[in-house]
Amino acid sequence: MQNFDFINPTMIKFGKDQIGTMNQVIPQGAKVMVLYGGGSIKRTGIYDQVMAALKGFEVIEFSGIPSNPEFEVLMDAVKIVQSDNVQFLLAVGGGSVIDGTKFISAASLYEGDDPWDLIVKQEPIMQGVPFGTVLTLPATGSEMNYAAVITKGETSEKLLMQGLGLFPKFSVLDPSVVSTVPKRQLVNGLIDSFSHVLEQYLTYPVGAMLQDRYAESVLKTLIEVAPVIVNDPSNYEAAANYMWCCTNALNGMLQNGVPVDWGVHMIGHELTALYHTDHAITLAIVSPSYYRHMVDAKEDKLIQFAERVVGITEGTKREKALAAIDFIEDYFNRLGVECKLSNYVENYDGCAQAIAKTFEDRGWFGLGEKQSVTPKLVTQIVEAAY
Ligand code: NZQ
Ligand code: ZN
Repeated sequence: MQNFDFINPTMIKFGKDQIGTMNQVIPQGAKVMVLYGGGSIKRTGIYDQVMAALKGFEVIEFSGIPSNPEFEVLMDAVKIVQSDNVQFLLAVGGGSVIDGTKFISAASLYEGDDPWDLIVKQEPIMQGVPFGTVLTLPATGSEMNYAAVITKGETSEKLLMQGLGLFPKFSVLDPSVVSTVPKRQLVNGLIDSFSHVLEQYLTYPVGAMLQDRYAESVLKTLIEVAPVIVNDPSNYEAAANYMWCCTNALNGMLQNGVPVDWGVHMIGHELTALYHTDHAITLAIVSPSYYRHMVDAKEDKLIQFAERVVGITEGTKREKALAAIDFIEDYFNRLGVECKLSNYVENYDGCAQAIAKTFEDRGWFGLGEKQSVTPKLVTQIVEAAY
């Protein structure tokens, strides 16, 4: 097992009616900005529950944070936070609203000239306006981690920011909200969380027995609840397990002491930046091709996945490794998701070369746990996913 540092200070308030208790953990007397997206929270009744819980606080609202949160929109909120002396931010939404709130939190206290530097300079973010979250869509794990992914439409960039200052103070996880989530977003959540585990598990063995079995448990639970959730999102027990899996897939526990990859996500983010494809769909497009190109480097863990997660006992080592990748592709297909770019985008000529060039321009010459995914290999991976 490799050395690691671990901290996760986010308080989780999990279960039915927990939205009503969050006033206990917001600083008394704080001026609160409630941030949300395109309005789903009003249709689902979550908005009313949040406002009832905030009775007694001075509250202002900022709505319209889009999926793949846009720098330009977020900067409008930053100006209000600064001019109105907002003391606490409350994100109510999915990964986009939470990530957007993380950026607003950091940018509101940023003293440099251009807040986009918070992202491009890639320095760890150590401070921000304190914030909590009410999760309405299980998927990204943003509710319990210190990462955010922000888009700049003007330059077609979608980039990660991270740092200990971006941990939410608390996150409310009420599985009842899952009953309101449309099928498309449920499927996205089941794919994104699955991919988060794979990025931290499908590398090479380092004898991290507990982390491996933790990852396998999250994968097996997702596989078990996926069909139940898609057919009946009002099944509370399945929703609770789905929601907690999504959080555990990316709250830092799985990456302790193990090598991590994140190449699928890096390539996927470029597809979203170019074509506005849903984040999870980009992962389904990239993953099968990525893992087939990396089958040699990842063979041991693919075999472990085949044996322990899928239950495959027959075949040669190579057959088992390839069967693991087939299973991953089949998991996406069974959720109704095709794994080729041409299923979603009409004109993708030159896309693979464009992504490889972007990586070269950024100095990203080797992605993956062994930095072996060169721009040339990225081109091959994306072309094979056309
Ligand atoms: O905007 P509203 O009206 O709220 O509608 C949203 C949005 O259209 C809707 N929705 C959310 N909760 C709902 C609901 N509709 C009905 N009922 C509910 N209860 O769902 C749509 C998608 O929401 P979004 O937040 O965009 O989805 P998701 O949670 O999948 O977040 C995706 C973003 O997170 C980033 C992605 O790159 C993408 O920008 N990620 C963040 C990560 C992190 N911070 O650690 C890691 C991930 O890998 C990912 O990159
Ligand atoms: Zn993701």
